[in-house]
Amino acid sequence: MRFSTFSYSSLGKKIYMAILGLLLVSFVTVHLIGNLALLSPDKDTFNKYSHFLTHDIGGIILVAEILIFAFFFFHFLYALVVQWNNWKARPIGYKKVKNAGGASKKTIMSTTMIYTGLIIIIWLVIHLLNFKYGEEVMYTTKDGMLIRDLYATVTGYFSNIWNVIFYDVVMILLALHLSHGFWSAFQSLGLNGPRFMKFIRGFGYLYAIVLGAGFVFIPVWVYLTIGGAR
Ligand code: HEM
Repeated sequence: MRFSTFSYSSLGKKIYMAILGLLLVSFVTVHLIGNLALLSPDKDTFNKYSHFLTHDIGGIILVAEILIFAFFFFHFLYALVVQWNNWKARPIGYKKVKNAGGASKKTIMSTTMIYTGLIIIIWLVIHLLNFKYGEEVMYTTKDGMLIRDLYATVTGYFSNIWNVIFYDVVMILLALHLSHGFWSAFQSLGLNGPRFMKFIRGFGYLYAIVLGAGFVFIPVWVYLTIGGAR
């Protein structure tokens, strides 16, 4: 099959979506690990980590950022096209099955992927405006470096309980999105032997729970230990 024919085929789009999704999972995992620096009582830890990323290895990070934005953009674009084709293929309301289970594994997560994805994309724009492109407060670290106090921006944001609730609701939706997306990506890539699928489905659920719990925990912890006390 020619490359362009493959790219336009429904299988091609699903495979691209799966690869981009798995790349995003890797980014989100690294992002969670980095954000754990917010748990340190010394704000220099998080600020220096962020400064290291944005300044010390700025060139590499710029390339990584462009790639991450492209991954999000094309993952979402392919998802819209695949979903649109599915809707077009079923113009008249077809018989609704609550949970087909079995081989098709139709679940509430699988049927709402486009909606959870849309919410995550909208949330991501707000997230970037608040943190990455948020107010740049500068401060001097203990060893005399004048750098951005991103820690103050993040902890200030999570001093508002509504922001914590907003984040945590979206983080739960992210976990639900991943709980289906993770194993479904392997299925799209053709790695779908019954034993492997059983393993990867279990692993995907566990992974989504751990990742989701980590992201839910950070705003709550910040609110309870620093933010709420402001
Ligand atoms: C508790 C949850 C989260 C916190 C506290 C958090 C915090 C942050 C902060 C502070 C930045 C700015 C980094 C900088 O400018 O140096 C950032 C950037 C970013 N975050 Fe998050 N984040 C969270 C969850 C997520 C999730 C779940 C995603 C993806 C689904 C995400 C995607 C991004 C992206 C794409 C960037 C821009 C990265 C870059 O340009 O280097 N974040 N986040």
